Amino acid sequence: MAARHSVAHLSRRVSGAVVPSPLRTVRPKDVIAHTRAFATPVPPVTQNAAGSKGPTAMVFLNMGGPSTVDEVEDFLKRLFQDGDLIPLGRLQNYIGSFISSRRTPKIQKQYAEIGGGSPIRKWSEYQNVEMCKILDRISPETAPHKPYVAFRYANPLTEEMYNKLFEDGFGNGKGGRAIAFTQYPQYSCSTTGSSLNELWKWRQRLEGKAGPGTIDWSVIDRWPVHPGLVNTFASNIEKTLAEYPEERRSKAVLLFSAHSLPMTVVNRGDPYPAEVAATVYAVMQRLNFSNPYRLCWQSQVGPQPWLGPQTQTSVEEYIAKGQKDLVLIPIAFTSDHIETLFELDKEVIGESGHTDTVKRVESLNGNPMFIDALADLAKTHLDSNITCSYQMGLRCPGCKNERCAESKKFFAGVQNSLAV
Ligand code: FES
Repeated sequence: MAARHSVAHLSRRVSGAVVPSPLRTVRPKDVIAHTRAFATPVPPVTQNAAGSKGPTAMVFLNMGGPSTVDEVEDFLKRLFQDGDLIPLGRLQNYIGSFISSRRTPKIQKQYAEIGGGSPIRKWSEYQNVEMCKILDRISPETAPHKPYVAFRYANPLTEEMYNKLFEDGFGNGKGGRAIAFTQYPQYSCSTTGSSLNELWKWRQRLEGKAGPGTIDWSVIDRWPVHPGLVNTFASNIEKTLAEYPEERRSKAVLLFSAHSLPMTVVNRGDPYPAEVAATVYAVMQRLNFSNPYRLCWQSQVGPQPWLGPQTQTSVEEYIAKGQKDLVLIPIAFTSDHIETLFELDKEVIGESGHTDTVKRVESLNGNPMFIDALADLAKTHLDSNITCSYQMGLRCPGCKNERCAESKKFFAGVQNSLAV
């Protein structure tokens, strides 16, 4: 998904209420029938972990962003050369390189305007470190939990993260357990799928065949309606709504905004639009449908058709119809990035002519409620012995990418891979 440049139910209690677990898409008996349990006990990789099943590597996957203006060109090149993200055909590398060099000066200016770089690395590292502290407390049997970040297009890249795992004593004959935890709550083959294909590629290059002594991977691949995620979004929305005078509050329109996808990806059968819609509906349920709402899509790039309606156009059209109280909610990312700080704040809101009535809900960033949600997701996964959601094994009906097939066979297990 693009960047403009850039889970039936096992029940569990959260805040006293029994709620469905979003990761577990399969019934208990299905878990036994369909999931690949960890085949071999994982030996501790350091002496200080003796007696526990740890340490456990917690690897956050995300697209990343350039931390400095100088990193913009490489970031854009990797992004536009990723056929999983923006399919450009057989000349992907050539066209991708051409587009990225043309866009670099403009995008560098945008990063300069938001402080000289993307905050996504800072937030990802902070969220993971804080989550691991909670996990050490609530899951001592898998402690210590060690935080790693692997970005798809910016440093630290997947190869760098994998070599760091080796340096820290994972793999290379010592085994160990690593969890690939996507930081895209809603699954798209363009985002989480692309990151997993990249992780699979580097795992094959650096470790070869799976076996004793290699790292044992499992994946948290989607969590669109996790109660902690939904609650954090809802409480941030309530905070922003409180800024409107009481008599106008319930009439403010909530505009949920997510990265768009090229229609070729949507029509291939990508699960993302449905999962984003699931998050939106869950948030609205939590808000008791207090306000009217719509889901729109941002960050389209290039001439091909993308999923709409576009966020900026939606804002302009509502304003033209007289609806000026609009609340923008970035619903598909876990921290601030260029698409919130520049595109929504400076372009959509800044150019609306109504900066006093068009507002943006703050991003999840360092919100403790959100970090508790991450820890809950990870703890549920660590306890489950499930390698990934059952859904992840199914390829898109229109998928022609053999890397998807191989990556799904590896992560989901051959017996759980469907249509490969
Ligand atoms: Fe969806 Fe390959 S594009 S599984």
